[in-house]
Amino acid sequence: MLTGLNVQPGGCFIDGTLGGGGHTQALLSHSHPNGRVLGLDADPAAIRRVRERFAKEINAGRLILAHATFDQTARVAKQHGFATVDGILLDLGLSSFQLDTPARGFAFQHDGPLDMRFDPTVGRGAAELINRKSWAEIADILYRYGEERHSRAIARAIVANRPVTTTGELANIVRKAKLDCAPARRGRGGGRGRQKIHPATRTFQALRIAVNDELGQLERALPQMLALLRGGGRLAMIAFHSLEDRLIKGWMRDRSRGFLPDPSLPAGGREQVPTLSICNKKPIAPAAIEIEKNPRSRSARLRIAEKCKSISL
Ligand SMILES: C[S@@+](CC[C@H](N)C(=O)[O-])C[C@H]1O[C@@H](n2cnc3c(N)ncnc32)[C@H](O)[C@@H]1O
Repeated sequence: MLTGLNVQPGGCFIDGTLGGGGHTQALLSHSHPNGRVLGLDADPAAIRRVRERFAKEINAGRLILAHATFDQTARVAKQHGFATVDGILLDLGLSSFQLDTPARGFAFQHDGPLDMRFDPTVGRGAAELINRKSWAEIADILYRYGEERHSRAIARAIVANRPVTTTGELANIVRKAKLDCAPARRGRGGGRGRQKIHPATRTFQALRIAVNDELGQLERALPQMLALLRGGGRLAMIAFHSLEDRLIKGWMRDRSRGFLPDPSLPAGGREQVPTLSICNKKPIAPAAIEIEKNPRSRSARLRIAEKCKSISL
């Protein structure tokens, strides 16, 4: 990430997903002594912890924190006087801190209230979503955002067991619904090793994406981030599932071409001046040693692109 963002002393960066501040720490130390970072997170608990961790850098004016979703980046950057920046980072999804806190309701391994909001102070949690929506709407969420093959059977089981209020209840409902769908696989480890992930993984991912409007957030944020970059500035995006990675890949690819396909236009698209150049054709995946040290990194995919130098703001 540091190489990809080309972090230099005195550089100015935006970390759209502060989390525990690991990446921000690296940005601050590699942009030492006078580099600056604007850090955003939707989670007020993340902001509180990062505020304590980086009290010195905040006092020195090198780190500015904002409790905001990253689709607010343009507004927040303007508010804090970040007109253009050298690099922007998004490390998508949820933090280990959130996953390991049962009260946040992200994990099927611990029982807790079924919430899953990055910002528990706004909107509605996952329990409200699955207890209010119709069977068809739940099935659609599980299929679209979890790519869950058994979306209909799981949605039916959820509706039959409502109200569902805890992560443990939901995990059990999903597990049973899946066993009913594929009883032949029982006791065989799922056959061909396919069932290595917990049966509720895709359902939990889908609900989290829906609750936090994760794909909408990303779609709204990307153009703002491109506008904030100086010519030659870099974007580094880490995705943890294929829906996000596909969105980033397609968005970067469309902006790196001289012709933008659009079937609604008579010529099948239009010519355009490319605004981005893609730095790595294939996404960067963690090395085996990193996965060994940090198994949660295993599905991470990093994509980097540079804003074309000729693009004026
Ligand atoms: C994978 S963690 C980031 C970890 C961080 N890079 C670090 O080094 O510790 C993702 C963080 O992004 C936050 N987040 C997710 N979606 C967000 C959004 N749309 N806007 C702002 N923050 C978001 C989550 O609350 C979480 O703290």
